[in-house]
Amino acid sequence: MGSTDIVLSGRTIVVTGAAAGLGAAYARELDALGAAVVLVDLDESVHDLAVSLSEAHAVVGDVIDRTTAELAVRTALDATGHLDGLICNAGLGSTAGPVHRFDDEAFDAVLRSHLHHTAIWSRAAWPHLREASDGAIVTTSSATAMGLPGTSDYAAAKGAIWSLTRCMALDGARHGVRVNTIMPIAFTPMASTYPDEAVRDWMRAGFDAAEVAPVVAWLLHPDCPTSGECFSVGAGRVARVVMAVAPGLESVEPLSVEAVAAGWNRATSLDGLVIAEDSNSDMMLMRRALGELG
Ligand SMILES: NC(=O)c1ccc[n+]([C@@H]2O[C@H](COP(=O)([O-])OP(=O)(O)OC[C@H]3O[C@@H](n4cnc5c(N)ncnc54)[C@H](O)[C@@H]3O)[C@@H](O)[C@H]2O)c1
Repeated sequence: MGSTDIVLSGRTIVVTGAAAGLGAAYARELDALGAAVVLVDLDESVHDLAVSLSEAHAVVGDVIDRTTAELAVRTALDATGHLDGLICNAGLGSTAGPVHRFDDEAFDAVLRSHLHHTAIWSRAAWPHLREASDGAIVTTSSATAMGLPGTSDYAAAKGAIWSLTRCMALDGARHGVRVNTIMPIAFTPMASTYPDEAVRDWMRAGFDAAEVAPVVAWLLHPDCPTSGECFSVGAGRVARVVMAVAPGLESVEPLSVEAVAAGWNRATSLDGLVIAEDSNSDMMLMRRALGELG
């Protein structure tokens, strides 16, 4: 299949944080594939990007403000009569530092810019994506959700976005709305503030935001069958990231601390790891351990 076989013409997609970095790369990719786009950013330069594209509208505003979300959705509907996709991409870098030192207000601001933004915008888009019957949302997590010292605000937001995405995907399954998240890596204005110069140079050389955009475009495409998943994307690689549960230590007797200590190797073993599709996966393993299931 050649790259020209996949198009997004006739589809209308809202992109938050589109003035720079990954959001601008998504806007260019979606435009090249024929989609109409509504580009949202705090930065007024988003207008310049919009005029350089074929069918693009700019909305300047803060993504944590629900009226900005409503305006962007209304702009999409006024322009084309429908909304088929949403990319929640905007957000702030970490300011937390070590956990004993973070500032309450700054911590909240980072959570709002990622997590609350994603929830508010998904809610605003939801009825229209349902109406489209093959609508899709791409949210933005980060590998930082797996843990990075000094970034508790950002990591907490990005981990929560993964969980939010999984819940929205389950909610959307009956209505034809797919929701996936990505953990992107790209050299962008945000990445250029990374404190380690060697890492910055390495990213500058190998991590072009344009290489993340095709994955996002595919996740928004009506032929993409996937929902509720997370993908690590960057430098020409896309890979599924999973939540998984191991069978663990089983005991027919109530566990004592001695039994936990003696069986700790078994409790921490990954043998028989099961991919968790939802919270029932863990419940099923418990029921199997209790002999309730074959
Ligand atoms: N660059 C990476 O390697 C990387 C890694 C993991 C996750 N991410 C995530 O990908 C997304 C994009 O990252 P990026 O590197 O392109 O960031 P960036 O800072 O380079 O660009 C973000 C854009 O969002 C806008 N923005 C920020 N807060 C906003 C707000 N409250 N309202 C409206 N617009 C706002 C900014 O003005 C900017 O144009 C972010 O969610 C980021 O956390 C990036």
